Amino acid sequence: MKIITTIKECISYLETCSRPLGLVPTMGAIHNGHKELIKAASKNNSTIVTSIFVNPLQFGPNEDLNDYPRKIKADLTKLQGLPIDLVFLPSTEEMYPDNFSTSINVGPISNLLEGKSRPGHFNGVATVVCKLLLITTPNNVYFGEKDAQQCLVIDKMVKDLNIKTKISKVPTVREKDGLAISSRNIYLSKSERCSATIIYKSLVLAENLYLQGVNKPKLIKNAMSKLIKSVPLAKVDYISIANPSNLKELGVLEDNALVSIAVFVGKTRLIDNIYLKRIP
Ligand code: PAF
Repeated sequence: MKIITTIKECISYLETCSRPLGLVPTMGAIHNGHKELIKAASKNNSTIVTSIFVNPLQFGPNEDLNDYPRKIKADLTKLQGLPIDLVFLPSTEEMYPDNFSTSINVGPISNLLEGKSRPGHFNGVATVVCKLLLITTPNNVYFGEKDAQQCLVIDKMVKDLNIKTKISKVPTVREKDGLAISSRNIYLSKSERCSATIIYKSLVLAENLYLQGVNKPKLIKNAMSKLIKSVPLAKVDYISIANPSNLKELGVLEDNALVSIAVFVGKTRLIDNIYLKRIP
């Protein structure tokens, strides 16, 4: 597993690597969700690159950029033994030199849900992912479905800019009690970690109501909201039941609707989602 920190070296190293090439972009704090992305990449690629870069552009002024876990040594240990050829580990100055000024705005889809709560977030994500795609020119890139809106934003960017990379989405990895695995889970105290299980429980409630024939998103959102309110440490930021392609809120439920939720548990903001599916 080679470690490269400069863009120049990364480009020249990858010129000689066998293809297909798969990229797994991360912000580090490697967990089982990342490992699933790497596992998925290993099935379809001869060369696998993982990037670790805590991207300042995707954090708002009052967000957790400074606190975001940076555990490079532990991360590299976790990545050892996985089928990775290269870890691309650039510094902030390497990615964004002093005169850097470009920002990619993918348009309306980046202003809904997460984009509404975190203005500018998806410009930061799109900009860094575009840079990573141009630097590593992967045939395939892997993202987790936990960040469903991020997947849609990247899909749109890749389509609009005629980027050739194929995007693969990997199902959300969950703890035994259903909590979606996220680097931010490490912020949770014991009691917050316990309270955080309400997020997935609320999504399961949505699914059950849908399967029972409830077809009004409003009723489902109200039930989810009520359930979350029963946990004192949890506070809903938003609940959305939307078309899975354009994130427009639905008036009447349809199969494959995307239920997304953002919840503060203490000070930690966590997101999760599920697609509503009828049992075939
Ligand atoms: O999902 C993430 O970890 C980040 O948003 C990404 C895609 C690595 C871009 O910084």
